[in-house]
Amino acid sequence: MPGNSFGSSFRVTTFGESHGGALGVVIDGLPPGLSLDLAAMQAELDRRRPGQSSLTTQRKEGDRFEILSGFFEGKSTGTPLTLLFRNEDADPRAYESTKQLYRPSHADYTYDAKYGFRDWRGGGRASARETVARVAAGAVARQLLAPMEIVAWVQRVGPLSAPEGLDPSREVVDQSPVRCPHPESAAAMEALIKEVRSEGDSIGGVVHGVIRNVPPGLGEPVFDKLEADLAKAMLSLPAAKGFESGSGYAGTLLRGSRHNDPFAATQQGIRCTRNHSGGIQGGISNGMPITFTVAFKPVATLFIEQDTVDREGNPAKIRPRGRHDPCVLPRAVPLVEAMAALVLADHFLRARAQGTGPFLP
Ligand SMILES: Cc1cc2nc3c(=O)[nH]c(=O)nc-3n(C[C@H](O)[C@H](O)[C@H](O)COP(=O)(O)O)c2cc1C
Repeated sequence: MPGNSFGSSFRVTTFGESHGGALGVVIDGLPPGLSLDLAAMQAELDRRRPGQSSLTTQRKEGDRFEILSGFFEGKSTGTPLTLLFRNEDADPRAYESTKQLYRPSHADYTYDAKYGFRDWRGGGRASARETVARVAAGAVARQLLAPMEIVAWVQRVGPLSAPEGLDPSREVVDQSPVRCPHPESAAAMEALIKEVRSEGDSIGGVVHGVIRNVPPGLGEPVFDKLEADLAKAMLSLPAAKGFESGSGYAGTLLRGSRHNDPFAATQQGIRCTRNHSGGIQGGISNGMPITFTVAFKPVATLFIEQDTVDREGNPAKIRPRGRHDPCVLPRAVPLVEAMAALVLADHFLRARAQGTGPFLP
């Protein structure tokens, strides 16, 4: 019932709050004997870390993890793997003055409505700080999935779009602080984010993702279709408001004769010559790259005065303090990749257990 766990065969449970003692994740279902590359995990975490550029929140967290269980002599043991992150730069004082007020479009009111009280320090459990645990789990999942390759990038910030059809490497994505692989678009996006931040405002945008080298046959037929699980994974991210698989909404503008993906025999086996399906048909991977899009809203916390109410419903003005991201898009990229890795790892292990798809005899 409580919704802090995700996945069935590769099952992750995250815990912790923004300004509590620590955050962490328990991964259950990781096969034994996997040599975990801890440096690669830390590199993933460093991509999500706050304060990595002038475009993101200036909270300073090292995001170094401790392994509490499930790991021995450099390998996973097959028992629950627990990773812990101690909060180092928690500063709840900035939130004292607004703790009785509801930030418009944040989770303050709904947490009170559900639980009757809430941890008001920096958004508590609703803070994107929770995603440090997901990125750690995603970094473990990636190691299980090699040679599958997951790359996400910023496609749009506000009205500024990069050209369609990009298919970048992670190295190229990480060359710009905005994580947009098209240099001219990246420069314009960066300038826009700085302008928005100087006005105390926030701005949203869109992340594109691709998963390459996916074997045909991953995914379940009905309720756990691969794209349904990807949609849930992406929409579980804080500030995520939309998900599209393959051609998405734009595909509705085409006729079937243009939209269908023709099949062809290739050296790798049966593949398509187009990819409007985004690598998934009938909920199951077809061997083409899996492509998807995630929309993120402009974040709720603004340094501009807004109308709101207090816990008793009295009208009030709110002007939050604290450290905030004016645009979550650059930091959302590793989160999107991590959630994609969790979904793929779950379906990979399910296929392995059932002997389906790449594990057919
Ligand atoms: C990387 C990242 C950073 C975020 N930083 C902030 C922030 O600084 N301030 C804020 O109000 N919301 C921030 N958010 C979004 C909130 O966590 C989120 O809007 C809030 O929990 C309410 O949930 P909802 O938007 O999904 O409804 C961030 C989200 C992400 C993905």
